[in-house]
Amino acid sequence: MTTAAEGRELTQVGPGTMMGQLMRQYWIPAAQSAELVRDGAPIRLMLLGEKLIAFRDTAGRVGVMDHRCPHRCASLFLGRNEEGGIRCIYHGWKYDVAGNCVDMASVPPHQDFKHKVKAKAYPAVESAGVVWVYMGSAEKLPPLPAFEILDVPDDEVSVTFIQRDCNYLQALEGEIDTAHFGYLHAGHVDPDDVPEDSPVYHTITHRAPEYHVADVPWGTQYAAYRPAGQDSIYWRFANFLFPFWVQVPAGEFASHVHARAWVPLDDGHTMFCFLRWKRGVSAQSQPQPSYKDGRPIGGTGRGNNLLPNTTDWLGRFRLDKNESNDWGMNRAAQQSSEIYSGIDGVHLQDQAITESMGPVTDHAWEHLAPSDQMITRTRRRLLMAARALRDNNVLPPGVEHPEIFHDGRSGYFVSDDKGPWQEVYARQLAAAVHPSPIPLRAAE
Ligand code: FES
Ligand SMILES: [Fe+2]
Repeated sequence: MTTAAEGRELTQVGPGTMMGQLMRQYWIPAAQSAELVRDGAPIRLMLLGEKLIAFRDTAGRVGVMDHRCPHRCASLFLGRNEEGGIRCIYHGWKYDVAGNCVDMASVPPHQDFKHKVKAKAYPAVESAGVVWVYMGSAEKLPPLPAFEILDVPDDEVSVTFIQRDCNYLQALEGEIDTAHFGYLHAGHVDPDDVPEDSPVYHTITHRAPEYHVADVPWGTQYAAYRPAGQDSIYWRFANFLFPFWVQVPAGEFASHVHARAWVPLDDGHTMFCFLRWKRGVSAQSQPQPSYKDGRPIGGTGRGNNLLPNTTDWLGRFRLDKNESNDWGMNRAAQQSSEIYSGIDGVHLQDQAITESMGPVTDHAWEHLAPSDQMITRTRRRLLMAARALRDNNVLPPGVEHPEIFHDGRSGYFVSDDKGPWQEVYARQLAAAVHPSPIPLRAAE
């Protein structure tokens, strides 16, 4: 079980908190590159409980900094994005993307002390169409995590952001909780009505699968397994990767190159950042699942409708369905079992369930079951790493050696391989499609 105190350690992400410090060791996907226009309006960016702004300067460089002007704390969100920096509209002081004060307009030249003033700026880089921010204090910047999706050319990466109104942990745990699939998403589906090659077939034939769960170099991993025919096993592998990433099984293992981040905006709000290889086979690349007679399976509707972005701290990439409209709950569809949950759309079902727990789950209220072992192991792994950092300055996994993330892959496959599960994984991974082929070694 997780105590109330551990729950606080796990879920609080602001400056100085234990988990907040852990997350600040890593590069964080913070915005879409397209949100920032050269010399365009800055955006308000809430990240790990800090109120920041982001803008793109005349040269195309991205600046991310505390929104408060170091002079007298007016918000730089209101600033003028001018030639090579942002100028506070209160007294006209100007800062470049690194936070250097480059003009102290309101001070006579002989009293100018701009070289002594620095806005609190964080380093930012761009990769895969995303702005990544480093909020830690290391003098030497760590490399980006070596996810396989970052090997893919930018134009082959699909980028999706969706805000979720709850703590990052409960959102993330929904993704490593394979036991809910046969209920929340497919509780109304009779396996006899579904073609055997449908991606949902095996998950509904055996709704209570067995699992293997283990720590792995990049975090934790589970393998759910169910019999598939005479001699084969249907496997679903998934990963948690430090500090807030997951790889889910909803795609063919051989090409399911992706990574999903649950980036804390503050303790009660999270930005889902989904990077997916467009050429991989997954739920997002396939048509809506249907019954044998061709009717679409209820509840698997596509499309997440976003509200227009606003300039609010929490105004980006919000769904039009939320607690205020019961996430579009259709009680008639629920009652008739056209849709088990009554909510249409797999992502929206997950959104509704995790937001319904409240902004931060009260962990002391839970009754965890053996089917939750991936969740308990992941919490433990996060807690241990965060405490080791706090107490002994031990850097968490993947900061110094980001290459450990490269071997993370998830997905489903049917196999008659009788080996131990982690060897089955290694063999599948070796045989999988890799977007950037490993260079051939020179002949010896
Ligand atoms: S508060 Fe920004 S220049 Fe004075
Ligand atoms: Fe789900």
